[in-house]
Amino acid sequence: MSFDSERVRAEFPILSREVNGHPLAYLDSAASAQRPLAVINAESHFYQHGYAAVHRGIHSLSAQATSDMEAVRAQAAAFLNAASHEEIIFVKGTTEGINLVANSWGGSQLQPGDNLIITEMEHHANIVPWQMVAQRTGAEIRVLPLSDSGELATEQLASLIDSRTRLLAVTHVSNVLGTVNPVKALVAQAKAAGLVTLIDGAQAVMHHAVDVQDIDCDFYVFSGHKIYGPTGIGVLYARKALQEQMPPWEGGGAMIDQVMLPVGTTWNSAPWRFEAGTPNTGGIIGLGAALNWVSELGLDAIHARESALMRYALDKLASVPDIVLYGPAQRSGVIAFNLGKHHAFDVGSFLDQYGIAIRTGHHCAMPLMRHYAVPAMCRASFALYNTEYEADRLAAGLTRIHRLLG
Ligand SMILES: Cc1ncc(COP(=O)(O)O)c(C=O)c1O
Repeated sequence: MSFDSERVRAEFPILSREVNGHPLAYLDSAASAQRPLAVINAESHFYQHGYAAVHRGIHSLSAQATSDMEAVRAQAAAFLNAASHEEIIFVKGTTEGINLVANSWGGSQLQPGDNLIITEMEHHANIVPWQMVAQRTGAEIRVLPLSDSGELATEQLASLIDSRTRLLAVTHVSNVLGTVNPVKALVAQAKAAGLVTLIDGAQAVMHHAVDVQDIDCDFYVFSGHKIYGPTGIGVLYARKALQEQMPPWEGGGAMIDQVMLPVGTTWNSAPWRFEAGTPNTGGIIGLGAALNWVSELGLDAIHARESALMRYALDKLASVPDIVLYGPAQRSGVIAFNLGKHHAFDVGSFLDQYGIAIRTGHHCAMPLMRHYAVPAMCRASFALYNTEYEADRLAAGLTRIHRLLG
């Protein structure tokens, strides 16, 4: 299917507003994407016509809300090609999904002297939960390094694995460099050595189709707000066999079977035993609408459109004087750069004056910043509603800032 960018843009009301007297060029979708009317309206419709507490109700509205929510679980399973809807756990987002695995699987399985492998390009969400559980259990963290070209030094993985290695946790796509990691090969190597595998899909699912059975990972996690859905909702895919080893990590309503006093409480079956309390039902409905919207456009068409736009933008940016581009030639969604010796915050503030929204800072990836020996980077991120004209405006804005700042 060919892509009609203007039609897609028209579905995002916010993209027609101005910022600082200029049309908004929203190049910060890797931080959080904007939402199409299909998502905004689905959530609003649910609150106007379908809302009730789920799970415990006998009345019609509650039963309908429960079945609507469970339909999204099945939809998320299909979206990731999971074997069953029971492998889908609703979480607040990628951060909570990784914390769930670190606490429940890690907290119950890791022993003093065990080790787990993460990489130098991880977002803090895929570093800090592992450090916390490692500290608690006496496990050791090992780090797969990054090459200067922005790719993982995958040839070093074998030397990090020994008989006490339990897990490999790696991002599918780097949120700073846009590197698409060879997760299928990494998982195959890790599994051959008996490791459990977790893939952070926060920057992947909106750009290309993901098949968890093909990747063969044990856990895959993503956030709704980066795939044109609501904030406060995300999905953790957890392989059924692994779920059986995992105790609940939060206690409360909905995750129990029988509650006894003073002790003796028993748990609900998975995945519900990992979803304590009243869920973000509106967010789940919005997520369902977002997954529908993306699937209708087709991830292959989205990928083709975005790849062309990324090539165009990279080409344009390469012509800006004194620009330093970080990351590999082949990348997904994001372009990280610095402009000469100017601090990323200054560059970002100037661009904002021209109505161009980018991200600046350490991007929750301080180890990666240290690798490149910079305190911060600028990051322009491209989604399916961005245009070549916006890439032109970014390059022109940077050229002007370079002239102004010297
Ligand atoms: C690669 C990656 N992992 C994890 C996260 C955390 O996602 P969230 O804040 O939605 O939990 C992000 C967010 O930027 C990310 O880019």
